[in-house]
Amino acid sequence: MNLNFKNLAVAFFAITITLFSSCTSTHETSPRSQAILKMKRATDHHSYSKPEVAVVKHLDWSAIVDFDSRIISATASYDINTSNTADEIIFDIRELDIESITVDGVKSTFTIGEEQEFIGSPLKISITPDAKKVSISYKTQPGADAFLWVEGENPFLFTQSQAILARTWIPCQDSPGIRFTYNASVDVPKGLMALMSAVNPTTKTDDGHYDFVMDQPIPSYLLALAVGDVEFRSVGEHTGVYATPDLIDAAEYEFAEMEDLLVAAESLYGKYAWERYDLLVLPAAFPFGGMENPRLTFATPTIIAGDRSLVSLVAHELAHSWSGNLVTNSTWDDFWLNEGFTVYFEQRIMESVYGRDISEMLASLSYRGLVNEVSVIMDLNPNDTHLRLHLQGRNPDDGMTAIAYDKGYLFLRMIEETVGRSEFDSFIAEYFSKHAFTVMDTDNFIEYLEDNLLQDATIREKVNLTAWIDGAGLPDNCPVIQSDRITAVDKAVAQWSEGELSTDDLAWENWLYQERYRFMKNIPESVSVAKLDELNKTFSISSTGNNEVLFAWLEQAILKHHTESYPRLETFLVNVGRRKFLTPLYKAMLDTDQTEMAHNIYSLARPNYHSVATGTMDELLGVNP
Ligand code: BES
Ligand code: ZN
Repeated sequence: MNLNFKNLAVAFFAITITLFSSCTSTHETSPRSQAILKMKRATDHHSYSKPEVAVVKHLDWSAIVDFDSRIISATASYDINTSNTADEIIFDIRELDIESITVDGVKSTFTIGEEQEFIGSPLKISITPDAKKVSISYKTQPGADAFLWVEGENPFLFTQSQAILARTWIPCQDSPGIRFTYNASVDVPKGLMALMSAVNPTTKTDDGHYDFVMDQPIPSYLLALAVGDVEFRSVGEHTGVYATPDLIDAAEYEFAEMEDLLVAAESLYGKYAWERYDLLVLPAAFPFGGMENPRLTFATPTIIAGDRSLVSLVAHELAHSWSGNLVTNSTWDDFWLNEGFTVYFEQRIMESVYGRDISEMLASLSYRGLVNEVSVIMDLNPNDTHLRLHLQGRNPDDGMTAIAYDKGYLFLRMIEETVGRSEFDSFIAEYFSKHAFTVMDTDNFIEYLEDNLLQDATIREKVNLTAWIDGAGLPDNCPVIQSDRITAVDKAVAQWSEGELSTDDLAWENWLYQERYRFMKNIPESVSVAKLDELNKTFSISSTGNNEVLFAWLEQAILKHHTESYPRLETFLVNVGRRKFLTPLYKAMLDTDQTEMAHNIYSLARPNYHSVATGTMDELLGVNP
């Protein structure tokens, strides 16, 4: 049966954006994007803005960053487009102190609506239909959720805006479907460099003043700022790295292959749209592995392994330059369109640069992770295993599970395997170029897919869109991932734990990190702490430079009460704020009656974590801040 998604799209509460046809702004909209803007669009439940009434087109941001008070004092001036009946423009704000507002230079009245959890408040500013410019002067709060301030000898500030934290440092129409260009002028303490998701400096200025231009329209969740004592090194014609002096040499080595990734990505799905691709190594407190801020990926230092083994994360963030930054999920319910496409594209980049052996190992690891996560989510809320999410009234962060990433990936891989790679590749390349700098939601994607790739009814039946998009769990036609190397590791771990293979006979030294990680993750409960200790001593696992392997080791150490590792565990958790590592480690402590240790470590570590991480850990540990 082929369910008709076009009807579903109409049933879905939808609005039509029409106001752009009458505008006379300097930021013209092309006929092509006007056509796309007329598509039915789902409402974004996580933003108060009403773009059909009045919408931002360009931001001029001027800001002073003060580390002592942890406050940014700023003015956000927006060029806006209005409908001919517009009487207000609505911005999203949270934790902001609004000082004054002008509309076309004249002081204006405004109201701040009631605050809702996660979403914050609507800032409503009275306007008339001929309004052109709205300027908002404001201050951020020291504990604003987007920020992480690092104090001490090496002060550092970075922001994390995705999903809905941009509104905690800039009043904005904080919906991924609304794009604008921006210029910024930022003052920071002398001796520090400021960087944004824009054209960036490569050297420090003497006076701490920096000007930025981003003349390609981006959604607010891609607004980003970092301030710190960083240096720049070029690693290729269009690529470079920024890092603090202690890490810059290591970063230059680790990310030396970035230009190769960029070249591979372009040859797969078309020209890179953002001129430069640079990467900034953040403090270890960064709650994610990477964040695809345009022109400047933000990355955790935990991917610096010394042997370039963790570059797939760079492939992932680079891939977002197409999936996400160019073609953007319309609402957070469509998050899989950003992440599933990106994982697929990441895999293809990895395959083309490092070979299918490597990419299939990665795919096999994510498949395994997905299967585990699906079974957990199925028990909590089966609807959360659908690709199309329903996050109204919830934190969009709840959507950041393996479903969007790996079920999304497998869905696209299944289509690739059904229609053939070359047909699929031309489809994807055209999908990106046709929808560049616009938004996409699940219904419109399905419609586009059916019209352009799945015209044949038998193929549509084989693909079974309904099961993937609005069905629970993993559909029957889910691809099977075959990695001989991973199969061999699975065999080794089974034999080793049964005593059929001695520790000395393990091929550990010849394994890549993916194989070591798989081994660690699969050690059964029955293995004794003494055997685990022998493994560690034989291969010096706890002193590995690969944080993925170290993380998997520490998890086993907790599960088996390998107390000798607990000091290392504590340092790791106090220094590293990457949520992907924190959640399983604290959870392992709770699951094995080591709750007191979990709380002790957390109380030391919590002041170092970003709000994204404390949000999750507070809940896990039942801490009331
Ligand atoms: N855009 C995401 C990070 C994100 C998602 C931040 C949702 C806030 C809300 C980024 O591209 C990402 O997916 N990072 C992954 C790395 C990746 C290799 C899977 C991460 O940080 O773990
Ligand atoms: Zn991503």
